Amino acid sequence: MNFWKRKINADAGAIKQIPPMELKKLAMSWTRQMWLGELWQQNTWLGFPILQWPTDLLVLQEIVVNQKPRVIIETGSYQGGSAIFFASLLKLTGGGKVVSIDWPGLSPEALNKVKNHELGSMIEFITGDSTAPETVSKVRKMLGSEDNVMIVLDSDHSYSHVKKELEIYHQFVSPGGYLVVGDTICAELGKLDGYAKWIDDNPLRAVREFLLDNDLFICDNSREKFLVTFFPEGFLRRVK
Ligand SMILES: C[S@@+](CC[C@H](N)C(=O)[O-])C[C@H]1O[C@@H](n2cnc3c(N)ncnc32)[C@H](O)[C@@H]1O
Repeated sequence: MNFWKRKINADAGAIKQIPPMELKKLAMSWTRQMWLGELWQQNTWLGFPILQWPTDLLVLQEIVVNQKPRVIIETGSYQGGSAIFFASLLKLTGGGKVVSIDWPGLSPEALNKVKNHELGSMIEFITGDSTAPETVSKVRKMLGSEDNVMIVLDSDHSYSHVKKELEIYHQFVSPGGYLVVGDTICAELGKLDGYAKWIDDNPLRAVREFLLDNDLFICDNSREKFLVTFFPEGFLRRVK
């Protein structure tokens, strides 16, 4: 037996298997700690700040590679990092475009940086409230009837805003495709000192109500395989 095999066996002997429910609690506790530690604010993709957690980025990448959407619409651009992330995946999976919506929009510096990047030409920014009729009409004009569309909602995380976004944007998702709702973790974070307002006012509540009223979508829990995610119950898949 080689050195590494022996070492792995020895370590494995010392580790007790944790029962699934305990493991879930442990993962949630770690997620809360990581969120409080603000490590999620220190990540970059190709040099662009991106407000996402690594396990979620890996899973989003898997969805894009499996589904091959040709258009990804995201609400919440921040500094353009997630738009660059999606554009980089589209580029390597056959092309397409990212439509990124933000209010009040990117700073001139951030916009310049994205536009000067080689992936910048794959991204169309819309400045406006993601739920405003003018914004939605701009989105509609950018889509072709045959486009395979994926949606990621990551703007204002209040219950009422996400509820409106779900009502508006679910119609654009192609059958079999994904509608991902960001920061559903806020419901859990509401239990932390100082965040009580999130107990009721969170995206997860909007997701649960949406699924009760809508049989086109299911929650795809398989996408939470790492247990550590900022999108619990937030990976929705269109089934018809
Ligand atoms: C969590 S950040 C987005 C993070 C980004 N997706 C990333 O991964 O780096 C939320 C963004 O939503 C934008 N925003 C807030 N309210 C909005 C609204 N009503 N409509 C559109 N964008 C909004 C903010 O300006 C902010 O840039």
